[in-house]
Amino acid sequence: MSTIESVKLTSEDTLVILDQTLLPGEIVYRTLTTQEDVWQAIVALQVRGAPAIGIAAAYGAYVELVRHPYVTVAELRHTFANVKAYLLSSRPTAVNLAWALERLEKIVQQSWGRVEDVLQAVRAEAEAIRTEDAQVCEAIGRHTLTLLKKEDGILTHCNAGGIATAKYGTALAPLFLGNEQNYSFRVYADETRPLLQGARLTAWELQQANIDVTLICDNMASIVMQQGKINAVLVGCDRVAANGDTANKIGTSGLAILANHYGIPFYVCAPTSTIDWSCRTGADIEIEERSGKEITDSWYEQPMAPPAVKTYNPAFDVTDNALITAIITEHGIVRPAYKENLAGHLQVT
Ligand code: MRU
Repeated sequence: MSTIESVKLTSEDTLVILDQTLLPGEIVYRTLTTQEDVWQAIVALQVRGAPAIGIAAAYGAYVELVRHPYVTVAELRHTFANVKAYLLSSRPTAVNLAWALERLEKIVQQSWGRVEDVLQAVRAEAEAIRTEDAQVCEAIGRHTLTLLKKEDGILTHCNAGGIATAKYGTALAPLFLGNEQNYSFRVYADETRPLLQGARLTAWELQQANIDVTLICDNMASIVMQQGKINAVLVGCDRVAANGDTANKIGTSGLAILANHYGIPFYVCAPTSTIDWSCRTGADIEIEERSGKEITDSWYEQPMAPPAVKTYNPAFDVTDNALITAIITEHGIVRPAYKENLAGHLQVT
């Protein structure tokens, strides 16, 4: 597994991110020192993947908070409220962003005497979010691995790897862990249009780990399934509704429909930080819409479409819970009926 850290806080209180837009060609780290830097990096997908966005937002809020002078804790709370609202406006679908900022908010709202103590506690909480995410991803990997067999063919979409999280990834975690135990998986990575997270990031991460990976275009998923090359589909998620409906990168729901058609298990790897109990169903999940330029202009020297063509570019879609074989959290494997079993699963732990 790649040991590259995609988001970290330095001892000088600056936020450093791996610029994921330049991969796999260049490994470039960027230093972010203001909330505007962090907002921009999230919007531009320099830092991306639901858990990594949450970690970046937490560190970003801290980095912004320490820039200001405060006389009272009340002043700090006021600044935090503005920073939270601002960072929340960067991307709407991944709930980890709100989840992480709400964790910091709980800290800020505690009863404090000294400003320095609040800042120290906020820093510690942001660090905890990152440390816990690595443990959560490792646990998801272990549980998911129990669902797979040696030499399985696995299809994955977008990038739910180490760089999308603190470490290990979610949907890629079982592949990294299995690789250490000689599982010899054959992985098919969807390129994931329009921004090619599968081609640029997943294929790169798996190659680095010496895992057998084959890159396919998104529209090739059906044939590889039909030809019997796929034993399981593994995907990550950006927000899971209380009934198990799951938002993930655009194209995920189509894969679930295909997997259902071909009788292939479809697994969603989901840290509990990605479950949003306030969304009753997937219809409550806001889907980010991004610039049509990502469809018409990206990645090539020449335009890929005629000028001024109309575009529609939703960045995520929602997979109906009926198409999901199991949702795997850090606590274990949840099967349908999700409305009851997701809630029960978390109460037990
Ligand atoms: O737009 P992106 O690249 O941030 O989309 C990311 C995904 O859809 C991932 O599958 C999801 O965030 C899970 S990452 C562990």
